[in-house]
Amino acid sequence: MKIVEKLNELRAVVQAWKQSELTIGFVPTMGNLHAGHLSLVELAQQRCDKVVVSVFVNPMQFEPDEDFDCYPRTFQADSEKLAALSVDVVYVPSVPEMYPNGLAQSVVSVPSVLTGLLEGASRPGHFNGVSTVVCKLFNMVQADVAVFGQKDYQQLRVIQQMVQDLNMPIEVVSAPIARDEDGLALSSRNQYLSRAERAIAPKLSVALKDIALAIESGNDNFTTLTEVATQRLLDEGFDSVDYLQVCNSITLQVAERDCQSLVVLAVACLGSTRLLDNRKVKK
Ligand code: PAF
Repeated sequence: MKIVEKLNELRAVVQAWKQSELTIGFVPTMGNLHAGHLSLVELAQQRCDKVVVSVFVNPMQFEPDEDFDCYPRTFQADSEKLAALSVDVVYVPSVPEMYPNGLAQSVVSVPSVLTGLLEGASRPGHFNGVSTVVCKLFNMVQADVAVFGQKDYQQLRVIQQMVQDLNMPIEVVSAPIARDEDGLALSSRNQYLSRAERAIAPKLSVALKDIALAIESGNDNFTTLTEVATQRLLDEGFDSVDYLQVCNSITLQVAERDCQSLVVLAVACLGSTRLLDNRKVKK
């Protein structure tokens, strides 16, 4: 496994692969890797001859009140996990390598109908930061396929929209949510849960599953379903529910009763930990 810090070195490796007509899969990450990330890598390996994983904590997607400096950086452990999977290249650019002219640079901005709601409602600059760095990484890696987790559902939709709108020559593959045995979606944030909070946390996935199953068996009263589930989560010990909504899975707008493609999206908080989860409805 090659660890590459400089763009010109990455370009040389990628060019050699392309000359040999090898396909390239790409998994962008901010490090602090867990089994969920590794499942994205395995999917990329199934799809492509070579796989690049980037590890870059992107300052542009942090809000001013979010602590970029405190984001966990665990590169030694991350590189051991990636080496165990025989990843071909880990790309670890520095902030000046990624943003040589600083953050005041050209920005990729996906329309606010998709980015101004849900996660974007409380984090107004977040998705511009994500789409800009992902666009830059796509231009750097020149992969055929990029794998994103369905866990960050809104992020996945934003990237799909950017790729479609800007005709980017890359296939975005969405990977299923990796879960612990009790259903809790794997996330770097789970490490911050106390033992008591960890016991409550899986109830979020149960709530989403119950809503999805109710809709699948014909209940189309989405408002009541989500209101009842929100109250239940609070009764079960969640400190707050930022949102719990049945949405159109493409537009992310609150779904009309006749919408055929649905996803239930939720964020609920235990102490200062925000847990994200979602579930597609099979119709
Ligand atoms: O999901 C993440 O880890 C980040 O938002 C991403 C896609 C690597 C961009 O920095």
